[in-house]
Amino acid sequence: MSRPLLRIRGLRKQYGSRLVLSSIDLDVAEHEVVCLIGGSGSGKSTLLRCVDLLEVVDDGTVHLGESELTDPRLDPDVARRRIGIVFQSYNLFPHLSVLDNITLAPRQVHGVPRRRAEASARELLDRLGLADKADEHPDRLSGGQQQRAAIARALATEPELLLFDEITSALDPELVGEVLEVVADLKQRGLTILMATHEMDFARRVADRVCFLEDGVIVEQGTAEQVLTAPREPATRRFLARALDRS
Ligand SMILES: Nc1ncnc2c1ncn2[C@@H]1O[C@H](COP(=O)(O)OP(=O)(O)O)[C@@H](O)[C@H]1O
Ligand SMILES: [Mg+2]
Repeated sequence: MSRPLLRIRGLRKQYGSRLVLSSIDLDVAEHEVVCLIGGSGSGKSTLLRCVDLLEVVDDGTVHLGESELTDPRLDPDVARRRIGIVFQSYNLFPHLSVLDNITLAPRQVHGVPRRRAEASARELLDRLGLADKADEHPDRLSGGQQQRAAIARALATEPELLLFDEITSALDPELVGEVLEVVADLKQRGLTILMATHEMDFARRVADRVCFLEDGVIVEQGTAEQVLTAPREPATRRFLARALDRS
């Protein structure tokens, strides 16, 4: 296998004396979609936040391509520009139009001229089925539309890696599909995605690999097919049985 785009080795994260991630080893190859599954509190969000340098890592390394993101000499803002992250709560700026939400980082952080930033943003909105929402404020959009706008915002800086943290968990059930379809489309287009999700059917259909976390440990990882239909570890089986019960 060629060198993975994202390479995590021996990652450890504590909050005070509480160990939240312990010896995490995980690779994500270019163009791969990797799903993180696991119960609430298992460490999925913390892992994504560590990759995006929103948390200080206690031990271990994270590489993105050739750069070590965990190198203390590295400017975290510079590293973060190469990564797009979308959260459960869309976090769009309520006082800005959808278009301005999307062009903000390209213009202010990446120095893209307004005209070009807006043209790219409109193209993205069109692709995500939001062409007619460019000038609306976020509160005029449904949850699914807001989350698609948040994805457009993450894509606007052309990140090498996308991190999605439970991006459908806050949505009404009937709006989940439209957001997951966007993710499936991004995979088709060859983007590299690491995402925490509760959507097992989606993971089975779209993920290249699935990684099951429990208490801050990767208990099992493998192809989506293997982990979700023939899990080797009893803990994975217990988790999946509960997840199926709920759906
Ligand atoms: N800022 C924080 N301070 C202290 N503990 C935290 C903080 N953030 C998360 N935790 C704890 O870390 C553990 C993992 O949380 P999290 O990564 O959010 O799990 P998940 O996303 O899988 O639900 C949980 O026990 C949670 O309570
Ligand atoms: Mg979480």
